[in-house]
Amino acid sequence: MQRNRRTFLKQAGAGAAVLAAASALPTRFAVAQKAKLKLGLMLPYTGTYAALGHNITDAMNLRLAEAGNKLGGREYEIVKLDDESAPPKGKDNAARLLVRDKCDLLIGTVHSGVAIAMAQVAKEENKFLVIPNAGAVQLTRQNCSPKLFRTSFSNWQPAYPSGDVALKDGHKTAVIMTWKYPAGFESAGGFKDSFVKGGGKIIKEILPDFPSVEFQAGLTEIASLKPDCVYVFFAGAGALKFMKDYEAAGLKASIQLYGPGFLTDGVYKQAGSAAEGIKTTLHYADDLDTPVNKKFRAAFKKATTREADVYAVQGYDTGTFLIQGLDAVKGDISAEKPLIKAWEGVKIDSPRGIFTLSWSHEPIQDIYLRQIYSGDEKLLGVAHKALADSGSGCVMA
Ligand code: PHB
Repeated sequence: MQRNRRTFLKQAGAGAAVLAAASALPTRFAVAQKAKLKLGLMLPYTGTYAALGHNITDAMNLRLAEAGNKLGGREYEIVKLDDESAPPKGKDNAARLLVRDKCDLLIGTVHSGVAIAMAQVAKEENKFLVIPNAGAVQLTRQNCSPKLFRTSFSNWQPAYPSGDVALKDGHKTAVIMTWKYPAGFESAGGFKDSFVKGGGKIIKEILPDFPSVEFQAGLTEIASLKPDCVYVFFAGAGALKFMKDYEAAGLKASIQLYGPGFLTDGVYKQAGSAAEGIKTTLHYADDLDTPVNKKFRAAFKKATTREADVYAVQGYDTGTFLIQGLDAVKGDISAEKPLIKAWEGVKIDSPRGIFTLSWSHEPIQDIYLRQIYSGDEKLLGVAHKALADSGSGCVMA
């Protein structure tokens, strides 16, 4: 794999010489010529997270279309790549977009392991990376970077309030079940931070490999351990299968299920009775009663015939983020310092509510408590107001 990447980059090197000559021209010349901005969009369009990638893409395009399909007055083109949520291919795919296709900026992705690989390549190539989902905490902590921004969440963020919710519901013991990869560990970590601090006890952590949907052995173990509650991190098609299996195993009626809202978002309608009663925390809720949310949901439905979910919201907000930054520099992405300043100062009037970015380039946002009730997702309240990731270990240099 490593050898392939080196070979690829070497081949790309010949093109890079031409690129270097071209970039010696004054940037203003290029901008005056209104060369199209090239956006590299790397997301999963196949596999367990496929629906997430599609919703991010479609909602981002919707937002850009609302702004006349221009960024700071410049036309743009999008180069799309299916990353298959496959971390081993992450670096080659990111290099393909930045080196071979000469994209000006990279946008992606859903899976934390792939996003970590993308961030390494973006740093090597000295390019901007905007993350519309993946919550890997290191990207706003020890591996934060001036040209790396996130419009979504850190995996700790929606998880942390859920431990308190479970305690308030009277639970004292929990089993955690999550896919065995950074997002799962970090989400579990957020739950433990509040649940254990408040006196709760974790009696077991069950860790199937990503993206396995072989949940049976874990469910059998949960049935014998009989915890007060279960906390899980699953998303997309895997989350749908998990909810159905949990119900089929006869656990739903006796052991309350919690998780970040990724468990139910985009799939609770298909899950039917299996989703009923599940309580989740997330930085979005379908029925937020604001004009921005209502307008967004209607527009997304009209454009795609699908219901919006948190992934669509993050795609839409990524569109707003691009617009606000590139408008501030009139489309000149080489004006790096003013662009970073503009992006650090964004105030996004999102369907999730207004949010700004922390010093480590990550949304400071309300986390909502939601529950599936009579086939709909109901907003129960704000679980944590204006929650920010600690950004601990982040040095912006
Ligand atoms: C992640 O890998 O960070 C991730 C993936 C899917 C989600 C949330 C987080 O729904």
